Amino acid sequence: MTPKTFKIKSFGCQMNVYDGERMAELLDAQGLSPAADGDDPDLVVLNTCHIREKAAEKAYSDIGRLRREDGSKPLIALAGCVAQAEGAEAKRRSPLIDIVVGPQAYHRLPEMLAEASRGARPVDTDMPALSKFDAFPARRRAAPSAFLTVQEGCDKFCTYCVVPYTRGAEISRPWHDIVTEADALVDCGAREIVLLGQNVNAWSDDRRGLADLIRALAKIHGLERIRYTTSHPADMTDALIAAHGEVDKLMPYLHLPVQSGSNRILKAMNRSHSAETYLAIVDKVRGARPDIALSGDFIVGFPGESEDDFEATLRMVDAVRYAAAYSFKYSPRPGTPAASMEDQIPREIMDDRLQRLQARINEHQLAFNRSKVGVDTKLLIERSGRHEGQMIGRSPWLQSVHVETDAPAGAIVAVTLVAAGPNSMAGAEHQRAAA
Ligand code: SAH
Ligand code: SF4
Ligand code: F3S
Repeated sequence: MTPKTFKIKSFGCQMNVYDGERMAELLDAQGLSPAADGDDPDLVVLNTCHIREKAAEKAYSDIGRLRREDGSKPLIALAGCVAQAEGAEAKRRSPLIDIVVGPQAYHRLPEMLAEASRGARPVDTDMPALSKFDAFPARRRAAPSAFLTVQEGCDKFCTYCVVPYTRGAEISRPWHDIVTEADALVDCGAREIVLLGQNVNAWSDDRRGLADLIRALAKIHGLERIRYTTSHPADMTDALIAAHGEVDKLMPYLHLPVQSGSNRILKAMNRSHSAETYLAIVDKVRGARPDIALSGDFIVGFPGESEDDFEATLRMVDAVRYAAAYSFKYSPRPGTPAASMEDQIPREIMDDRLQRLQARINEHQLAFNRSKVGVDTKLLIERSGRHEGQMIGRSPWLQSVHVETDAPAGAIVAVTLVAAGPNSMAGAEHQRAAA
């Protein structure tokens, strides 16, 4: 049977979310329509993540739940990084899967759907450079804050990480394609664009780097804000740092994962930076943009991590005073070098370290938020809040701020930040001039 309605569930990073949006547009162009909430779709695309064991397992537990009471099931496409990592093996693990499609093969989805409708179980985990981007239709919908993937893949091979295997080698989309897509996003309502890449600051095209791209996008009329994520410390160029001081539309926020504060562990992780070189970059960035909000990622319990190594991580958190940070327990991933390293850390120790790290991060997060109380700033309104008349917007520092306003999603409103919590802020809207 040829499917008429579909549903896409994305489990992964922002690039997965972006891919999910693009697959939806592709299916839409094929004449399928998104299933209404609560309706049973003919096709389910599980857009999976392989970064940690828990994320990967989630895909399979979800598949089981798709079987209907009468024993029938929708067409099931396994997409994303689990599909890439497992390939045909996924079909053996779950007989319910009809299609296995890796993150660089989405352009083949329509063809694969036709094959699956005829009863075949196609698998495609090839990695042709850029084909999927060329196959996606032009953008016709955009949220106030829209994602735009500019770079994919990774050549860094941190010893714990699956991304170089699931997303392939680093590639940059061409300048012209990105500008065209950004223009289209703004035409259909985006006020902010978030440039995405596993190593977004490694983006380049013909000797032009991310800083040049940001400066060009800043000229788009109607585009008010630009962000980018995720950056690797090794690719944090002086040109990009300078842009933070010079481009008004570039928001004062930088996600710059460090992973650990211990040089011994950083070396074992193959992170190419030390605690000192990382802190030197942070200093430079703050020199260019003193109010910048910094965020990061941390892994606790990497093989061989001692209490001393962990305390170096706590000192790193104190030295940087992160405005936000994500922390994870190390998860051994099949095929990565760290999975077979000696001295894997027991779960209880990881649990304890994660708790201590998160407590420390939360202190700094709250301190950062409190430091903004009384500040006049602008919010990009993104959605309605929990209460009548309340909307949720983002500050330039990416804080989630609730505010009483009748401004719609997509509006930019002037506020004073009046209260701070650990994860969000309250704002009071300035009187607007009568229309
Ligand atoms: N490209 C980015 C982020 C990639 S994945 C970077 O270089 O930082 C997002 C985060 O997941 C990583 O920053 C890391 O903190 C975490 N992560 C990756 N592999 C992991 C693993 N095996 N176990 C636990 N956390 C992991
Ligand atoms: Fe993974 Fe390291 Fe590449 Fe980031 S830089 S995606 S952590 S291998
Ligand atoms: Fe997950 Fe793949 Fe993103 S493993 S974090 S969805 S690149």
